[in-house]
Amino acid sequence: MKRLLSLLGILQLLAATAAVYKQWIPNTNFETASNWDKGRVPCARDVVHFEKDKVVSVFVGSPHALTDMYLPLNGEFLLAAGAAFTAFDGSWDPGCDSGGTVRFADAEQRSWFDPTLWRDVLPSGELRPGGPIFSVHEERVPCRHDDVIFQPETSFRVNTDSAQPVIQLRSISIMGQELNTPSSWAGYLGGPSAPLQFHGNGTLQVTGTGCPDKSGCACGNALDGPRICAALLRAPGRQCPEPACQSPLQPLGHCCGVCGATIDLEFTPDFDLQKYQDKLVQELLSQPRYAGVQLAMSKVHRAQTFLGLVSRGTAPLIQIVLIDDRAGAQAGTSAEQLAADIMQDIAQHGEALGISSGKMEVATGSTATGQVGSPPVSRIAAGTVMGLLFSLLFLGGILFLYRKGKLRSLQMLTLQKWHPKISRFSTSTLCTVQARQRPDGVDSRWGQTPLPWGYHHLSSPHSPSHHSWWDSSQKQIPPE
Ligand SMILES: *[C@@H]1O[C@H](CO)[C@@H](O)[C@H](O)[C@H]1NC(C)=O
Repeated sequence: MKRLLSLLGILQLLAATAAVYKQWIPNTNFETASNWDKGRVPCARDVVHFEKDKVVSVFVGSPHALTDMYLPLNGEFLLAAGAAFTAFDGSWDPGCDSGGTVRFADAEQRSWFDPTLWRDVLPSGELRPGGPIFSVHEERVPCRHDDVIFQPETSFRVNTDSAQPVIQLRSISIMGQELNTPSSWAGYLGGPSAPLQFHGNGTLQVTGTGCPDKSGCACGNALDGPRICAALLRAPGRQCPEPACQSPLQPLGHCCGVCGATIDLEFTPDFDLQKYQDKLVQELLSQPRYAGVQLAMSKVHRAQTFLGLVSRGTAPLIQIVLIDDRAGAQAGTSAEQLAADIMQDIAQHGEALGISSGKMEVATGSTATGQVGSPPVSRIAAGTVMGLLFSLLFLGGILFLYRKGKLRSLQMLTLQKWHPKISRFSTSTLCTVQARQRPDGVDSRWGQTPLPWGYHHLSSPHSPSHHSWWDSSQKQIPPE
């Protein structure tokens, strides 16, 4: 039974490695406590404050009663069915005794190239089982043939600053819709949300093509390697771990030195990266003596030198990185053992595997770096998911408040390049929403005043100083 279970586990792992889906972790949702400076979602007595100059896209999943809300100059609320903002009428506020100003946190610096902001998921969106496979840091950020997922029912804002003008991807899913053709992506970029979600000088480009080469495809993030490592190591607690070996290895695409082993493979047209990785997992890594060893394998480009001096461009090779969980003098020794097994296998079966040569480097707690060479001895199928035209299905529609001036069920609110004040005055019979450009450039606010039917007064008792910039051309919705 145990055997069967572990076999099932391996099969599951193999199935999971076919296509690579990377999911953006942070969001800018209204209901995410960490998006607010007080670490909690604003409640009825709070004054909600969005920075005037910070562009935001904010998903709102449920109804909120609020006292006041300052809006940014440019942004949008995406309201789920049933979500709404209502004015707090002062009567009922369980668990919200002390009102205060609650500010929306700054999402501006969240970088596309921060490897800590992505995770590998299955096409369904579930977290991919960890297993013994890991990725070097550069490949934790979406590679050019990867599928990117922004979770449904979330809003986000990503800084795409890049060393390259164009960041290529196979597909991007937003709000549950996969955009996997250049034209569907172009359509999305032309819509209202994209400029609020993506900023920076790198342009995302959807190609719709997975890696066409069975020997693998280089990730394509090498030029942004320094940006990736800077993002990884920016936070104080995020230094590279102190290596337990004297001269740690520096795998290509990895930000930190590692103890263990690396193997560089030269390959022939017969080489199949996915098959070879599966073989290593099945035949070697799954052995009990290699519990605690992790493997990363990918195609990389190494700069070539001639006589150690002149660069001759780059050559593709397969890099295998092996690390383990041993400590002290034992650090890296399991990985070293596995690397030796792999080298022996290459010496015997290399030709049939499409491997022409292998070069191993080792760094363990007990030895200095050593090198071993072996004598000389396409296509990864990316999962294809049916694309659907992007539509904000459950969001229902777009209502530009400044044009309509009214609505009963707010679905999506887009604030253009003007500075609005929005008020929703709710009584049992009256519902009015206002948006007006502020002439003075002072922060706008979304205030509350329950109004009797037909009444045209619009100043808020909480903000008498703001009274002056309201004009009287109000629109109201008659009671139903
Ligand atoms: C984009 O801006 C960054 C600075 O944030 C700069 O380092 C990089 O070279 C720029 N990239 C391009 C393609 O202009």
